[in-house]
Amino acid sequence: MMRRGKVLLEGSRQGSVDGKTNVANDKELVHKCHSDPGGGRALGAAPRTHRHRSASGATRKCVLTLDGYSYVIVASPPGGATAPREEAPPRPPPPPAPRNGTPPKQGALTIVRRSSSRSKAESCPTPTDEQLDSLDLDTEHLPAVDTPDACDKAALRLRYLLRQLNRGEISAETLQKNLQYAAKVLEAVYIDETKPAVARQQSAPTLVFRRLADEDDELSEVQPDAVPPEVREWLASTFTRQLATAKRKSDEKPKFRSVAHAIRAGIFVDRIYRRVTSTALMQFPQDVIRVLKTLDEWSFDVFALHEASGGAPVKYLGYELLNRYGMIHKFKVPPTTLENFLNRIEEGYCKFHNPYHNNLHAADVAQTVHYMLCQTGLMNWLSDLEIFATLVAAVVHDYEHTGTTNNFHVMSGSDTALLYNDRAVLENHHISAAFRLMRDEECNLLQNLSREEFREFRTLVIDMVLATDMSFHFQQLKNMRSLLSLAEPTVDKSKAASLILHCCDISHPAKRWDLHHRWTMSLLDEFFLQGDKERDLGLPFSPLCDRNNTLVAESQIGFIEFIVEPSMGVCADMLECILGPLHSSSKNSTSSAEPINEESTGNENSSKFKIRKPWVACLSDNKKIWKEQAAKDAEARAKQEEENNSVPPTTEE
Ligand code: CMP
Ligand code: MG
Ligand code: ZN
Repeated sequence: MMRRGKVLLEGSRQGSVDGKTNVANDKELVHKCHSDPGGGRALGAAPRTHRHRSASGATRKCVLTLDGYSYVIVASPPGGATAPREEAPPRPPPPPAPRNGTPPKQGALTIVRRSSSRSKAESCPTPTDEQLDSLDLDTEHLPAVDTPDACDKAALRLRYLLRQLNRGEISAETLQKNLQYAAKVLEAVYIDETKPAVARQQSAPTLVFRRLADEDDELSEVQPDAVPPEVREWLASTFTRQLATAKRKSDEKPKFRSVAHAIRAGIFVDRIYRRVTSTALMQFPQDVIRVLKTLDEWSFDVFALHEASGGAPVKYLGYELLNRYGMIHKFKVPPTTLENFLNRIEEGYCKFHNPYHNNLHAADVAQTVHYMLCQTGLMNWLSDLEIFATLVAAVVHDYEHTGTTNNFHVMSGSDTALLYNDRAVLENHHISAAFRLMRDEECNLLQNLSREEFREFRTLVIDMVLATDMSFHFQQLKNMRSLLSLAEPTVDKSKAASLILHCCDISHPAKRWDLHHRWTMSLLDEFFLQGDKERDLGLPFSPLCDRNNTLVAESQIGFIEFIVEPSMGVCADMLECILGPLHSSSKNSTSSAEPINEESTGNENSSKFKIRKPWVACLSDNKKIWKEQAAKDAEARAKQEEENNSVPPTTEE
C-alpha cells in the first residue's frame, strides 16, 4: 500500500531534481534497468507515477514522493543516452570508464532515491506567527503518523496550541484532536527508537532505555530438568551476557518499503540483467560450475564445492554471488581486485588449520545468506549497497578465526583479548582484519564506492559481524520478537540483515543430516583441541571442550531446541513481516520476476504470506536422530557405570 504518495512533474533538465541543482544529498542511486518487458511493465504498473517527455524527446523523467522521500525516475531512449550522471552522488576518485559495459542498445530506466524530500535546514524551523495564523487545524487529512512529515505537522500544531492557549482562544475539541494526533506521532517515534543500538545511546529517552535495560536471562524459561546441567551451563555461558555494552549508532535509514511496492520488480530485473557471466570474468573449473548449479538450494553441499574447487570454495562462491547480484558491475569492483580479495580472505580462514572455523564455514554461511536473500525475496527489500554489505559480511564474518572461543581468549589473556578489552574479541578481529586487508589497493573492492557509500557499507558490516557474537544471541532475538509484536512493526535494515547473518551462522543443525553431522563433528574436534590447550595451560575446561566428558548428542539437542529453532522461528516471522507487503503488491503487478513463496492457503490476504521453511523438517529430523543417539549413549553409560560399580566376586571362604 502506497501512502500519500505525491508526484511532481519534472522537465528533463540535466542535473536538476525538483528544480534544484544541488543534489549532494542524493543518497543512493538505486537502479538502472534496461527497459525489457519485465522491468518496464512493473514500473509502468506503479500507481501515481506520471511521465513527462522532454522537449527534445530524449528522456522522460518524473519525481515520485513517498513517505517523505523523493524518487526521480528517468527513462532514456535506446541508443546510449543514459540517465544524467550528475544525479549520482560524488564518487571520488573519478570512476574509470565502465569495465563491463558498453552503452545500452535498449532504453534505460534509472531510479534515483534521494535521502529526504526536505533538507536539514528546512526541518522543524520555529514557525512564524504568519505560518501559525494560516494553519488549518483540521485533523482529517494528516500524514501517516510514522512519516517525517507527521513530525513537522505535529510540532507545528503543538506550537499553535500553545499560542492559542496563551491567548485563551481554543476549543476543547480542537485541542483534544490535535493533542491526540501529536501523541500518536510521538508514539510512532518511540517505537522506532526502541531499536536497541539507538536505545543504548546514553542520550536515549529514559522510557526507551528502561524498556531495554530489563534484559532477563531467557534461559530461565528453559526447564532445569529439560537439559543436563553441563549443557545448561554451556548454553548460559555461551549465549547470554550482561547488558550489552556496545553503543553503536545505526544510521537512520530511509524506509524502502513503500517505494519497493512501486519498483520492486524493476530492481529484480535490473540485478539479474547486470550480472555478467562468470566465465567472462574469471575462469571457473567445470566441476565448480556443476556444483554451483545447486547454489540456490537450502541444503547446498559446500563440501562438494570444496572438493571441486581444489580447496578454494570462498573464491568461487564469493565471486559467483557478487556477480549474480550485480555487485561487480554496480560498485565497479575490478574483477582482479575481487579475486585477490577473496584469495586473501580464503588464506586467512586457513591460517590456523581449524577443523570448523575455516574457509568451508565461510562459504557455507555465505551460501545460506544467499538462500535467504534470493529464495525468500529479501533481496527486493534491500538496497544494492545493503546486499553488497551483507554478502561481504558473510564472507568475512570469521576471518582469521583462531579456532578458539572468545572465552578462551579472555581466560588465556591473549593479545587479541587485550586489544579488544575482552569484548567480542574474535568478532572485532574478523572485522578489523578484513577492513585492514581492503586497505591494500590490490584487494580494495570498495575502491569505487563514494565516501557515503563506504561509510554506510562499513557501518553495516561492523554491525552485522558484531552481531554474530553468540553472547548477544538472546538479546537479539528478544529485541526482534518485541518489535514484531507491535501493531505496525518497522524493521531496521541493519537489524534484519544482522539477524539473517546470525541465523545463517548457526544454521547447520537446520540442514540435511549428513551435512549437519559433518559440521558437528568438525566443531567438536575444534572444541576438543581447545580443551587440550586449556588442560596444558592449567585452565578450567570450557563447556563442550573436555574430550572425555562431553555429552555430544545432548548438547546438540539443547543447541537445536534452545538456540537454533527459536532463531529460525524469529527469522521467519521477521521475513514474513517484511515481505508480506511486498508480496501483496506483487499480486497486483504483472511481473513474474520476483521469487515469491506462499503456502497454498488459497487466501489472498497478505497477512497470510508465508515463506518456505525447508529448515523445519531438517531440524525435526536431526533432533530425532540425536535423541535416538542420546538414548543409546545413556544406555552405554549406565552399563559402564554398572560394570564399574559391580563388586568383584570375593575369593574368601
Ligand atoms: P561462530 O561460527 O563464530 O558463531 C556461531 C557459533 O555457534 C559458532 O562459532 C559456535 O561457537 C556455535 N555453534 C555452531 N554450531 C554449533 C553446534 N552445533 N553446537 C554448539 N555450538 C555451535
Ligand atoms: Mg564467529
Ligand atoms: Zn561463523
